[in-house]
Amino acid sequence: MAPNPLAAPRLVIDALSAGYGKRRILDGLSLPAIEGGGVTALIGPNAAGKTTLLRALAGLVPAKGSIRLDGTELTGLSVAGHARFVTYMPQALPQRVALTVFEATLSALMSARDETISTPEAHARALAALERLGIADLALRGLDELSGGQRQLASLAQSIVREPTVLLLDEPTSALDIHHQLRVMQLVEELARERAIIVVIVLHDIAQAARYARRIVVLENGAIAADGTPHEAITPQMLARVYRVEARVEACSRGFLQVIVDRAV
Ligand SMILES: Nc1ncnc2c1ncn2[C@@H]1O[C@H](COP(=O)(O)OP(=O)(O)O)[C@@H](O)[C@H]1O
Ligand SMILES: [Mg+2]
Repeated sequence: MAPNPLAAPRLVIDALSAGYGKRRILDGLSLPAIEGGGVTALIGPNAAGKTTLLRALAGLVPAKGSIRLDGTELTGLSVAGHARFVTYMPQALPQRVALTVFEATLSALMSARDETISTPEAHARALAALERLGIADLALRGLDELSGGQRQLASLAQSIVREPTVLLLDEPTSALDIHHQLRVMQLVEELARERAIIVVIVLHDIAQAARYARRIVVLENGAIAADGTPHEAITPQMLARVYRVEARVEACSRGFLQVIVDRAV
């Protein structure tokens, strides 16, 4: 539950089409309001259109239709216009950036602000973002000398420091060990609740999605294949149809949903 449900933002996607050149990937996609205060996981097989959907929401691919954030229509806004509300952490991170982790976080913060904040305040916020991810010790390291997992955490720090209304994360845990995966999932869930923001996260680990998200949207061939609570969306039928695997969905001793995959079909 959001701390103040009345203040939680709502994102409504209506008849959204997006693609590359003549190739339509999303064709008239509509989705009941995504609400702030909790995590929404976007799952689905390779090439389903998950990245394209996030990029359309961030204004990074041309889109037709409507993306409404409360009273504001986002389609048609410039990339900078989108950036006032939406932060997108890409799946593939830029490799060669000659900045330290701290500088990159600071510059992400400054580029997201309309109002001016003092230098000490900006420094404190950038450091706080690194601390929340447990990477304050990397502050002075160059981005180009980090491991893949460290770079992913640094990129996440740049996303959260902006304090967006809508945080879009594209496979943010793909390079992380299990400790850091859980740390990131816990943090993202906390941020969603604390700030009552909208978080949409693309994940491949279905059980992890079920554990941390309150809503699961399953995308297949650019269309919604399932949408609901983890228990509603993740079923053996869905897994057979969308992922082409024979699987069991069972509750663990603590009641959390587990997916046991028996074979590909
Ligand atoms: N830059 C691009 N130009 C042309 N086609 C693309 C581009 N990016 C992705 N696609 C195509 O769009 C489809 C959806 O891709 P994507 O949204 O990346 O899927 P997902 O993130 O679910 O794996 C795929 O068929 C992919 O080949
Ligand atoms: Mg993708």
